[in-house]
Amino acid sequence: MIHIKKKRKKFLNSNTDSSLQTDLDTANLPSHVAIIMDGNGRWAKRRLLNRIQGHEKGAEAVRTIVECCREMGISILTLYAFSTENWQRPKIEVAALMTLLAKFLESEQKNMLDNNIRLNAIGQIERLPEHVRRVLHETMTLTKNNNGMLLNLALSYGGRAEIVRMVRDVAIKAKEGGIDPDSITYDVVSDHLYTKGMPDPDLLIRTSGEMRISNFLLCQIAYTEIFVTDTLWPDFNREEFLRILQHYQHRERRFGRTG
Ligand code: FPP
Repeated sequence: MIHIKKKRKKFLNSNTDSSLQTDLDTANLPSHVAIIMDGNGRWAKRRLLNRIQGHEKGAEAVRTIVECCREMGISILTLYAFSTENWQRPKIEVAALMTLLAKFLESEQKNMLDNNIRLNAIGQIERLPEHVRRVLHETMTLTKNNNGMLLNLALSYGGRAEIVRMVRDVAIKAKEGGIDPDSITYDVVSDHLYTKGMPDPDLLIRTSGEMRISNFLLCQIAYTEIFVTDTLWPDFNREEFLRILQHYQHRERRFGRTG
């Protein structure tokens, strides 16, 4: 514990932006950060590159932000890496994203072990190609005892599909007598979501300026603080992430109550 605190301090001091160094309150950081990583395609287009090159650059930004969250002591990072709707993209792009994901997991296994990061996946994992499922399960198994940070990858994830799955599971249990319909509370609902046992995100970041939720964590973001930045995901970096944390710390979270 003390060791992590020291590391965190060193990290903040190494930042060039002095206001970030002095203003960030390490005791008031979000426990759970969720990110809609958008803008890889536009980033590539602006540079006359193909979309896949944009995703490759996006994977580098993933590494940077995972590392930053770990250093800051953030407990959970949930990244929207592939949505249920993304299956409708051209086959070549879907295949490239799957290959990129598998390569990312392979290359990050050691890093995750060294940095005490546990990998988890949320979404319709069964729809992923076999080679991705294999490395995903391998990485989850390898890192299952790590407790420094949870990296949640949303893969073939959709909030509506998650709700349908939850309703179906609860309905089956009710039909079989395992659940009394009158005793269904939000806790029961929450226990049947992919994020079972995890606190809801405190902070949701969306890159590339679009003002929408895009079917991400529909139940879980009821009281999440939302930040949208115009920065395209491949350009998203530590400094901007720290600035958003700073803004987050100035938000008053009322959860529907008065101030
Ligand atoms: C959205 O940008 C991004 C995605 C659909 C995929 C996200 C994937 C990565 C960030 C890289 C790989 C991920 C990991 C975890 C290694 P877009 O293609 O919709 O961009 P556009 O809106 O500008 O076209």
